[in-house]
Amino acid sequence: MSERKSIHGEWSSGMAFFLAATGSAIGLGNIWRFPYLAGENGGGAFILVYLACIVLIALPILIAEITLGRRGRESPLNTFRRLALDEGRSRAWAGVGFIGMLSGIIILSFYSVVAGWSLEYIWLSLRGAYQGASADRTDQLFSMLTSSPWQQMFWYTLFLALTLIIVARGVRKGLERAVWIMVPLLFVLLAVLVAYALVVGDAHAAIVYLYSVDFSRLSGHAVLLAMGHSFFTLSLGIGAMIVYGAYMPNRLSIMRAAISVAVADTVVAVLAGLAIFPLLFARHLPVAQGPKLIFASLPAAFGSLPFGFLFGAAFFALLTLAAWTSAISIIEPVVSWLVELGWSRPRSVLAVGSVVWMSSMLIDFSLNVWSGITWQGRTLFDLFNFVSSDIMLPLGGLLIALFAGWVISERSLRQELRMNRGALRLWLWVLRYVTPVGVLLIFLNALGLIRG
Ligand code: PFF
Ligand code: NA
Repeated sequence: MSERKSIHGEWSSGMAFFLAATGSAIGLGNIWRFPYLAGENGGGAFILVYLACIVLIALPILIAEITLGRRGRESPLNTFRRLALDEGRSRAWAGVGFIGMLSGIIILSFYSVVAGWSLEYIWLSLRGAYQGASADRTDQLFSMLTSSPWQQMFWYTLFLALTLIIVARGVRKGLERAVWIMVPLLFVLLAVLVAYALVVGDAHAAIVYLYSVDFSRLSGHAVLLAMGHSFFTLSLGIGAMIVYGAYMPNRLSIMRAAISVAVADTVVAVLAGLAIFPLLFARHLPVAQGPKLIFASLPAAFGSLPFGFLFGAAFFALLTLAAWTSAISIIEPVVSWLVELGWSRPRSVLAVGSVVWMSSMLIDFSLNVWSGITWQGRTLFDLFNFVSSDIMLPLGGLLIALFAGWVISERSLRQELRMNRGALRLWLWVLRYVTPVGVLLIFLNALGLIRG
């Protein structure tokens, strides 16, 4: 067991850790990304493959991240350096923490643009902007938003400000207090929305669409997307779970915590599908629209269903809350590192926030004034979305798996994990062999070296 203390503070209880880590995991990935990926890539078969990836690849890395964090008790970058030195290895491992921070900045810049849309949609729903609107009309409203750089800027700037305020207040007074309110609220909203969708929507069609298993609709490429998404959804590969682990009290069981987080995240992804698709099917709206699924189609459903303006606003409030509790975990690795360099927390937050804000601006402009600029047919927005989750997160995850599996001694891992030998061996075996091979496959595919 590590005797080290974090200079940033500690979660006050197991529940606080669970809420923070679950808040990080549950995000746009579950409510925005997962439903459109599942819809586009074969429904039930995709979901089964995704579940296998969670268990075989993502969960072992989640356990590894929390374990490394709690042992190092510093920002991800310094945790890598410290643990490598403990084992008599090269401090160059700190580079993994560095890559993670870069990925975090890239992720947060498109994440905040999407979360900004969500914020605006709360407002538009309440104002009744979608009442009686056709799908063409709501699609058009969405294009108007993304084609206006300043309107978009207003909303992601607001979202980033909300995120920064929380992180600036620190672990106990900022992060912990926020998740204590927001995560339970998120579950309540989700339950209400699922109930609503099941009552007013076409649950049967949704269930057939999402959960009927048809392996012929599943391409090899879809398998690799499922793996990439398993990293994204559990917040792996950038050090978010490492830094949350660094604040975890010693007495808690890492294994139990990691499993609870993975289960909660998966349940929410599945429930999100049940909150969305019955509504779309009830109104015969397009369901395979990719990234704009819930912004272009879904509002048309709310616009013509009973109390749609209210439930629509609740849906986008849910999405915003989910994004918010994730966003704080995306910048905490960088902020904690700057604090360890001697900066004050507010100053660190401001510095990171400015960088993210500027890079969000690139994403913003890539959707309008610079939409002509593409690389291999992808706009900057698509590229950031793709590069971060299908290249940088798997790369980070691979390095973390190798570090925990091959660099850290089994003795150190056992001290931190305190579980029986058989279970530890099994986890370590998966981490050493299964995980790296799986990740390597995603990676080669993302680079176009193998084609599914
Ligand atoms: N897990 C978040 C989601 O599913 O939306 C996204 C995310 C958060 C990715 C934090 C990476 C991260 F470090
Ligand atoms: Na998630």
